[in-house]
Amino acid sequence: MHACIGVVAFNPSCLPWNESKGIMVRILSALGLVMFSVALLILSLISYVSIKKDAIFTAPKYPIGGGGGGPRMYMFHTGFRSQLAMKFLDPAFTPLNNALNENLQENSSKWKFNKTGYLEQSKEIAQYIDVPRNFTLTKSSVRVGQLMHYDYSSHKYVFSIGENFRSLLPDSSPILNKRYNTCAVVGNSGILTGSRCGAAIDAYDFVFRCNFAPTEVFRRDVGRRTNLTTFNPSILEKYYNNLLTIQDRNNFFLSLKKLDGAILWIPAFFFHTSATVTRTLVDFFVEHRGQLRVQLAWPGNIMQYVNRYWKTKQLSPKRLSTGILMFTLASSLCEQIHLYGFWPFGWDPNTGKELPYHYYDKKGTKFTTKWQESHQLPTEFKLLFKMHTEGILKLSLSHCA
Ligand SMILES: *[C@@H]1O[C@H](CO)[C@@H](O)[C@H](O)[C@H]1NC(C)=O
Ligand SMILES: *[C@@H]1O[C@H](CO)[C@@H](O)[C@H](O)[C@H]1NC(C)=O
Ligand SMILES: *[C@@H]1O[C@H](CO)[C@@H](O)[C@H](O)[C@H]1NC(C)=O
Ligand SMILES: *[C@@H]1O[C@H](CO)[C@@H](O)[C@H](O)[C@H]1NC(C)=O
Repeated sequence: MHACIGVVAFNPSCLPWNESKGIMVRILSALGLVMFSVALLILSLISYVSIKKDAIFTAPKYPIGGGGGGPRMYMFHTGFRSQLAMKFLDPAFTPLNNALNENLQENSSKWKFNKTGYLEQSKEIAQYIDVPRNFTLTKSSVRVGQLMHYDYSSHKYVFSIGENFRSLLPDSSPILNKRYNTCAVVGNSGILTGSRCGAAIDAYDFVFRCNFAPTEVFRRDVGRRTNLTTFNPSILEKYYNNLLTIQDRNNFFLSLKKLDGAILWIPAFFFHTSATVTRTLVDFFVEHRGQLRVQLAWPGNIMQYVNRYWKTKQLSPKRLSTGILMFTLASSLCEQIHLYGFWPFGWDPNTGKELPYHYYDKKGTKFTTKWQESHQLPTEFKLLFKMHTEGILKLSLSHCA
């Protein structure tokens, strides 16, 4: 009897046989009801989605690049991954279409740099972010044993700065007092595929790239020069098998060698999930000290400052994209910034054809809307496009040659 105290309601075995059977029956019928409602819910969701789908395909209201009889929009070919994908239909995005359309059809040579506007904005950014300082931690800005937190993780997660980690930090910010005339920030959108923008991109004084994106194979479209690329530590897990084999280590070494003296910008303190790979990365760099020319930069907890600036422009997603973060940093380094590969949609605005998400995605990879959960790429894009029309930056969306 002791075993039953307090759990009678959940434990029919504690009751005499007949009563127990009655409860079982009641539980079973309750379960049946629950399952029935779940099935109903699923059915109604399915029909809701297919109704939406029909509505979209029978009434194409978004004639970008079409100008009437032109190509139709195929933005929903890739299916309905989530209700959030519906944000593509956000009416707030529609007014952009005419402007975008005009812009793509006109000569891009019509774009004029608004130097006053750009300088004004750079100054504003500098009021929120000390870019050279936020760019990287330095040997003198941390001490061994210091506990770092993560920008996007619960405060309970910490990373203890070790001697090895500290030894990889630069003595001073590599961008201190640096100034470049023209900069390209290259995003990874599939819009670059077939763009033949490689030569144009390579002509800039300083080329920013995101997430260690491959260039060699795609050089005709994206160029081969890199002066800075971001490197989320999780790349080790995703593309280099956590450096578990000699082959993986060789591949990684060769990729780094190709970067020559470029800056590898490693946001190790954004997500606590980076902790383990960061240690693997640190060990690797310590082991190969003196064998690579790549300059390491390790930003600390900087997103609060960056977020605060963009919030003044009514942009405050859970997470800003790496692309807009690079633009933010570039504003203190560059006299003029042009963006390539910034286009978070699944269709080409020039042709209406379907696009992969990244330019380096394998053929047939479907456009993903997974980022919708934390990023607000369409809202970001809208803001960047507005800045483009004001001449503050140049957003390249058409083919180059
Ligand atoms: C675009 O500019 C080039 C030279 O700058 C000119 O030859 C061409 O006709 C222009 N095209 C349009 C559509 O204005
Ligand atoms: C230049 O930029 C400023 C600040 O964003 C803006 O107010 C102004 O309208 C822009 N000038 C032109 C010619 O677009
Ligand atoms: C980033 O810059 C802000 C000022 O803009 C400064 O208060 C903060 O300490 C810097 N943080 C890091 C980690 O560099
Ligand atoms: C940028 O990188 C290229 C090689 O990719 C190099 O030739 C050039 O000197 C670099 N520019 C700067 C300003 O570091």
